[in-house]
Amino acid sequence: MSGRQAKNNGTIKLVAGNSNRALAETIAAHLETPLTKATVRRFADMEIFVEIEENVRGQDVFVVQSTSFPTNDHLMELLILTDALRRSSARRITAVIPYFGYARQDRKPGPRTPISAKLVANLITHAGADRVMTVDLHAGQIQGFFDIPVDNLYASPVMVRDVKERYELGKVTVVSPDVGGVVRARGLAKRIDAPLAIIDKRRERPGESEVMNVIGDVEGRDCILIDDIVDSGGTLCNAAEALLKKGRD
Ligand code: R5P
Repeated sequence: MSGRQAKNNGTIKLVAGNSNRALAETIAAHLETPLTKATVRRFADMEIFVEIEENVRGQDVFVVQSTSFPTNDHLMELLILTDALRRSSARRITAVIPYFGYARQDRKPGPRTPISAKLVANLITHAGADRVMTVDLHAGQIQGFFDIPVDNLYASPVMVRDVKERYELGKVTVVSPDVGGVVRARGLAKRIDAPLAIIDKRRERPGESEVMNVIGDVEGRDCILIDDIVDSGGTLCNAAEALLKKGRD
């Protein structure tokens, strides 16, 4: 038994949903802790069925499951896995959700609309999670949607390393493709000591985006656009076009 295994002393259990099996396996290899045997399968009508095939009574269980595309299926898997673990008397259940779906619906954009991020937080909590671990939440305030602890980890150390390897830092400007992403872009800019630019994006209808203005100096610069969600891709494409146009003007 290696040092790390001895330290875990068999009390940490890792359970993987189907959203990103490769990531769960990498985490398991890194921790030298095998994935707990669990079956996640479907009935003919696509209802999800879960069976935890090992004893988890009294154990500290981490469920690795992003609520990425197909979001509803992966969310439901996470909820059912959590319920199964709770009913198996796990001591603590941490939902590890690297990509937190529904996060952009964190406020009412208009009358008679939902706050789906809050609903999802309620679902995860009521299913039985004791903690949530996620990466670069769309908005930090979503942590407050939970009454359980949320660890919001940052991917920036990995990105900074990559940017430093690929770019001449003196020429780089970090660009937020919309006003809502400024905190995220500023975080990266600060770490690599680069200037910041902002695209003033106006969205007329959901799923469509329209770029209005580039705020900041981008002429002759290597621009790094940073965003947390690519849905239609419109935001990033329009931002890139606006930057090229501004560079030519
Ligand atoms: C918006 O708040 C998000 O950060 C993304 O900019 C947005 O969800 C991207 O969507 P799309 O790819 O459809 O433009």
